[in-house]
Amino acid sequence: MDSTIAVIGTGYVGLTTGTCLAHLGHTVICVDVDVEKVAGLQRGEVPILEQGLDELVQEGVRSGNLTFTTDTPAAVKVSEFVYLCVPTPQGEDGSADLSYIQEAATQIGPHLQPEAIVVNKSTVPVGSTRVVGAALGRGDVYVVSNPEFLREGSAVQDFLHPDRVVIGCDDQAAAVRLASLYLSLAAPLMVTDPASAETIKYASNAFLATKISYVNAVAAVCEAVGADVNDVVLGMGYDKRIGHEFLRPGPGWGGSCFPKDTRALIHIAEEAGYDFDLLKGVVTVNDEQFARVANKVVEAAGGSVAGKTIAVWGLTFKARTDDLRESPSLEVIKRLVALGAHVRAFDPAVHRQLEGIEVVDDPYGACDGAEVLVVLTEWDEFRWLDFDKVAAALRQPAVVDARNLLDRQSLRRRGFTVAGIGRL
Ligand code: UGA
Repeated sequence: MDSTIAVIGTGYVGLTTGTCLAHLGHTVICVDVDVEKVAGLQRGEVPILEQGLDELVQEGVRSGNLTFTTDTPAAVKVSEFVYLCVPTPQGEDGSADLSYIQEAATQIGPHLQPEAIVVNKSTVPVGSTRVVGAALGRGDVYVVSNPEFLREGSAVQDFLHPDRVVIGCDDQAAAVRLASLYLSLAAPLMVTDPASAETIKYASNAFLATKISYVNAVAAVCEAVGADVNDVVLGMGYDKRIGHEFLRPGPGWGGSCFPKDTRALIHIAEEAGYDFDLLKGVVTVNDEQFARVANKVVEAAGGSVAGKTIAVWGLTFKARTDDLRESPSLEVIKRLVALGAHVRAFDPAVHRQLEGIEVVDDPYGACDGAEVLVVLTEWDEFRWLDFDKVAAALRQPAVVDARNLLDRQSLRRRGFTVAGIGRL
């Protein structure tokens, strides 16, 4: 049965969730405080780079299943379900800042229909489902935790083909009502208590970050013992208990989720009296990885980058997104700039100037007169560029490939010196 749903917040989680729910046949009203953004979305204009989202937004707007408004009370009054998709930024002590979600809950509370279900999509510390319940100030509605597992760049695909749907709720009937929204998705559906659902989200993100830090640490060992991390990971991944996913070495992990969620989980554990040393180590390895990559660039530049131009390909925290939040690339660049380098960067999704970086619109132009080229984001198109032209543009043909993306044999044939991650 199709339902009417209000989605509060049109960031990448809210917009993807609302749009995909509309695609599944529900009537969805997305709410945001940003008047211009709402006006753009009403015209079918999507403000973020997210594969497949434009088409689905336009489809929803055309069919009438998907509408956008700044009027929260009006949207909430007609909706059986209200999704909270507002940010939970990191507070100063590493804890999640709940002010947005509390404010949203306080605002919607008086307008909710009796028996309405408030769905918590924002990543919130354990116990927040109850905090939201209290902020609503209503005894006749339900609050359900329904964490999202959407990756930027493949969020639509992840929503429509999830590995699992997790519902955290103390009331079985409310859980079943929410579950009915996802009936057409072929995914295991799990109902648990709110605290477990909230923990599943943090523990999953922290585990994935752990996998990456682990492989980056293994890569450091590979360099020291003369092994090739790509082969090591391939060999490890055939073991079904390990798998091949999320074992790509690189310049460290970043983005709007892993850094914030690992720190929040460390903080949650600390508050609860557990010292999560393992996860602290995961964060330390990641910080060290930024420095290790910067050092590789210094070495490739002959021991110093001071006064030299360094060409960078890739600024976003990963490929197929335009998101720069907590980007490992920017972390590496920050270290190079602190050592006196002039950084000239190209990224297919970034067309504005950034503080301390000269951003250019051409990958070859970025290399013009540069001492070293460093690849920091795994954009596929970098692999197919003309490396004779790159060699001609650089002062010396030297590449640091921090994503092990390029064909290093073909580069070496062209006279390049190539430094990767975890391979000689
Ligand atoms: C992550 C999770 O993967 C999603 O499941 C989760 O829903 C989301 O956070 C969230 O909490 O909202 P996302 O931040 O979009 O998604 O990005 P990922 O694809 O997980 O990548 C995170 C970082 O790890 C990137 O910097 C990426 O380059 C790096 N990474 C990833 C590696 O260095 N190696 C890998 O093998 C995989």
